[in-house]
Amino acid sequence: MSDSVFSGGRLDRRRLLLGSAGLVAAGAGFRFPTPAIAQSAPLKVGFMLPYSGTFAKLGKFIDDGFRLYAENNAGLFRGRKLEFVQVDDESKPETATDNMNRLVSREKVDLVVGTVHSGVAMAMVKVARDTKTMLIIPNAGVNEATGPMCAPNIFRSSFSNWQVCHPMGQVMFDEGRRRVVTITWRYAAGTQMVEAFKEGFTKAGGQVLEDLALPFPEVEFQALITRIAALKPDAVFAFFAGGGAVKFVKDYAAAGLNRTIPLYGSGFLTDGTLQAQGADANGIKTTLHYADNLDTGPNREFLQAFKQKTGEEGDIYAVQGWDAAALLAAGLGATRGDWSARDKVIAAMRAAELASPRGTVRFNKAGNPIQDIYLREVRNGRNEFVSVAGRSVDDPARGCRAV
Ligand code: BEZ
Repeated sequence: MSDSVFSGGRLDRRRLLLGSAGLVAAGAGFRFPTPAIAQSAPLKVGFMLPYSGTFAKLGKFIDDGFRLYAENNAGLFRGRKLEFVQVDDESKPETATDNMNRLVSREKVDLVVGTVHSGVAMAMVKVARDTKTMLIIPNAGVNEATGPMCAPNIFRSSFSNWQVCHPMGQVMFDEGRRRVVTITWRYAAGTQMVEAFKEGFTKAGGQVLEDLALPFPEVEFQALITRIAALKPDAVFAFFAGGGAVKFVKDYAAAGLNRTIPLYGSGFLTDGTLQAQGADANGIKTTLHYADNLDTGPNREFLQAFKQKTGEEGDIYAVQGWDAAALLAAGLGATRGDWSARDKVIAAMRAAELASPRGTVRFNKAGNPIQDIYLREVRNGRNEFVSVAGRSVDDPARGCRAV
């Protein structure tokens, strides 16, 4: 049993540590009745994730989180082995349709897990709808995926762009911020997160002085930082992630603005990035569906297992990968491993209630998580819980009619 990896047209087969053999071994201790399906072919999971570029670490952590959950909970998959195929989508929307088609038509995967970038996810959703391929999105927040493009076979284990940023509007207003500048990359995630923040902030009574943006994945922030200094807002709201977030936070501090104009954002600004950002990130407040120090059994279990397996601190991306696997287990559990009982699998996944490291997660009619959104602050190199910014926040699923 092998994993396949292909990138930029190259298909490169190699054995990885955690093939389906690992799952069988890990499952040996469970005492579930062994259904006939356990003898059938492995379930083929296609990971379409960024393994290179500014979001490379995010993709790797999603992949690691998924495999770790599957390895540690093999019994929940009811004897069904998993086989993995990876494609590096490079966060490039222009090659996304081809990459997705390759997974579906050539590799004949049973399920695709991906991706991080909202623009790439849009192309994946279109192929998934056309081919009725099961898709779990473990990060990309593009609102349409669980809005007008919703479908019974499309799920998200992560968030919508609206969901994580809307609560921040009221938070910043309540903290006395009245005149704000926004800054982001100019693509679906950035635009939608800023719009959601503005919806909440202007409704509360705040004013947005200017929206600043640069093309994804550019990191030449200097001119925009100079503009912020000239506008003198009460605060800044930002969306960047991965390598871009590291550079922005460091450039902001190097310009001295972290001492005079408080920086806020969606949690991606400081999640999975703090080691590289160091003290420059101290005091940044963000909203997200996770905080490092949530003191719950599932979070302690996840953080310990992730550290033990990878030597790294778990973050939101690893959580979303972990929960994508938990969602798959919910579907397979309901059919005792029979993936062909598709309606039952889908119904069980829609009805799933996950005991996630982030808290309890349920799913709305469009397959998007209903979850608490936390206000966090960077202290001591961690995104520490401050308060619940929104309880059981449900994306409005605007335009979703197909389910
Ligand atoms: C997005 O493109 O949807 C996205 C990328 C990184 C972090 C969060 C969202």
